[in-house]
Amino acid sequence: MALREIREYGDDVLARPCKEVKEVTPRIRELIDDMFETMYEANGVGLAAPQVGVLKRIVVIDCTGEDPHLLINPVILETSGEQTGYEGCLSLPGKSGVVTRPNYVKVRAYDIDMKPFELEGTELLARAICHETDHLDGHMYVEKVEGDLVNNEDLQEEEPS
Ligand code: NI
Repeated sequence: MALREIREYGDDVLARPCKEVKEVTPRIRELIDDMFETMYEANGVGLAAPQVGVLKRIVVIDCTGEDPHLLINPVILETSGEQTGYEGCLSLPGKSGVVTRPNYVKVRAYDIDMKPFELEGTELLARAICHETDHLDGHMYVEKVEGDLVNNEDLQEEEPS
């Protein structure tokens, strides 16, 4: 495994749509391992492949540090409710902004063996699923921020995602 460089906001690779994964090759396996390692090293709760410069529909999420999720070719099937709160992104370090997201999300994705599964999430997990899936379509949370971005050191109790 190896750490990968996290691309930052403004990098063209973050604004482009990603391609579906057809099969999990050894190279993609290595990418997935590296994405988890890179996310944990950066203290993030999620990372999408374009953030490490790879235009493939792969997302890793772990909201607690003990609940890793790999989503290959994720498609959001259902959403409900609403949550409004601070959100951040490893591609825009040190910043957060207020974004409204669904409070419940059901997503279909493929696992490391390319077997389909469904995952349901609420609160932070729902937010992370939406945020990371947006990356696969070339979108960043800043497009949805209500008001201004703030510096994380100015935040009191909210944890950036
Ligand atoms: Ni992000």
